[in-house]
Amino acid sequence: MRIVNIGSLNVDFVYDVDHFVQKGETISSKGRSAFAGGKGLNQSIALGRAGVEVFHAGLVGREGAFLRDLLRDSGVNVEWVREVEDCPSGHAIIQRDAEGDNCIILYGGANRMVDEAFVDEVLSSFSPDDWVLLQNETGSLSYAIHAAKDRGMRVVLNPSPVDDVLLGCPLELVDCFILNEGEAARIVGLDVARSTPERLLAAMGERFPRADTVLTIGSEGSMCRCSGEVFLQSALRVNAVDTTAAGDTFTGYYLAERAKGHDAPGALRVASAASAIAVSREGAAPSIPVRSEVEELLGSTERADSGSLLRAMA
Ligand code: RIB
Repeated sequence: MRIVNIGSLNVDFVYDVDHFVQKGETISSKGRSAFAGGKGLNQSIALGRAGVEVFHAGLVGREGAFLRDLLRDSGVNVEWVREVEDCPSGHAIIQRDAEGDNCIILYGGANRMVDEAFVDEVLSSFSPDDWVLLQNETGSLSYAIHAAKDRGMRVVLNPSPVDDVLLGCPLELVDCFILNEGEAARIVGLDVARSTPERLLAAMGERFPRADTVLTIGSEGSMCRCSGEVFLQSALRVNAVDTTAAGDTFTGYYLAERAKGHDAPGALRVASAASAIAVSREGAAPSIPVRSEVEELLGSTERADSGSLLRAMA
């Protein structure tokens, strides 16, 4: 079983601010950094560092060759990462506040040039035993879902960002959603401010009865509904420096554990530890831990008797 991620590769420009800029306001940033990022790249790096076989498929401009090198150095197969002419790599403008929270503007660039021919070419190397991982930062998402399902592959979707393109995709074909509360609320048509995580998870189950749903709930942790059973995992308490890519780290480590045959509660636990490390560090891709770091954190929390963190709810 192999995992192929048809996903974005971005350069993240991170601006440190006291507060997020408001309509009509001009503010000065206190610093600027640049990191490798993109939901696709981050998730592939997490999968690679978690130790499973992963192929990244995506497009960069000429100046984005370093993104491919970083993937390769993280254990990701980059056979399907291509440079395109006359189009810059995708990038993100990220405001980061003192709490480590962010807001992000995306420029799709080369990521948006992923077309049906490229999707077909990539998927032709994979078989029904393999899984495809997708997000909504590349072109041809709807086609990719159809094409992967036609090949009999398992489709895992991180439906981010949620927009009209995403809502127009054949989401009923998805086998596993990994998403946050805001994304779930928009997909099922609920008001996130008035919905508990339990309600959102139940609504996802009603709308997509065939699919597993993994819901991240920020500093509260995560929940999942897998084969009709619901599990909750508390978050590990850490000093948050930068939450960028915490969800991507969670996604990669969760999938890696599932791909290795571990059960959902075990996968939530490992993913939770990996994302706790990611939020304690700066940047997107650079914040993603290697497996030994995750195991070390899990070992220390076990020694501190964190066995009660995991609670089966049903
Ligand atoms: O999930 C974080 C990522 O979202 C950033 O790395 C940024 O590039 C955007 O894709």
